[in-house]
Amino acid sequence: MRMRNKPWAKPELEVCSYFLQHPEDVRGHWMEKFAENQPFHIELGCGKGGFIAQAAVMHPKINYLAIDLEYKMLGVARRKISKMYEEKNVPTDNILLTAYNIEKISELFSEKEVVADRIYINFCNPWPRKKHKKHRLTHPRQLNQYKKFLKNDGEIHFKTDDDELFEESIDYFKECGFTISFITYDLHNSGYEPNIMTEHEKMFSDEGIKIKFLIAKKTGVII
Ligand SMILES: C[S@@+](CC[C@H](N)C(=O)[O-])C[C@H]1O[C@@H](n2cnc3c(N)ncnc32)[C@H](O)[C@@H]1O
Repeated sequence: MRMRNKPWAKPELEVCSYFLQHPEDVRGHWMEKFAENQPFHIELGCGKGGFIAQAAVMHPKINYLAIDLEYKMLGVARRKISKMYEEKNVPTDNILLTAYNIEKISELFSEKEVVADRIYINFCNPWPRKKHKKHRLTHPRQLNQYKKFLKNDGEIHFKTDDDELFEESIDYFKECGFTISFITYDLHNSGYEPNIMTEHEKMFSDEGIKIKFLIAKKTGVII
């Protein structure tokens, strides 16, 4: 079900200290936007922000960037993030939030900016129709962009409920030179931890759908 419009979302984001209105302007200067120069993790398609809010508060020694296309999603995410930080009484200096089309993400990084240690792709849209598959956030068209700003040995953590997307993504990762270092077809019974649940993860697992998860490592030369 589509989320209703949230008229308060954009005005609240526009005055939020950790929301980037013009992420293109940060190109070449990502690390300067954070209080500390420390590992950098990016969540693609953060939705309502439950994952990033928990991760960023739990790990102050990691810098986080969460990206989504929709202001209504980002508005909900912002409220969740701010609430978490307020509860823990810690500064919001290791998190950034922005609205951007991930299909153009390489435009946000300069050629020399190989800065990301980890990318999270949680329950991206499966785009099942053949002619739409190129819009998948795990499609080679995307993976080849991520490789440009992901460090060597950097990882992509990918979770989904969708069997076909998962199987085809395994091929995409291999085709683009990633090594699959961990894989499970039933994350919640795999013993893998720590696992931070996303909103979609809770919804699908409540329906009895098993969560598929893999870690793909960038091991080699940029193609
Ligand atoms: C199915 S939701 C998953 C949300 C969240 N990761 C979760 O697990 O609950 C997919 C999210 O990706 C965002 N999204 C899809 N395509 C995108 C794109 N090209 N650029 C930015 N965000 C995108 C959507 O707006 C949506 O919030």
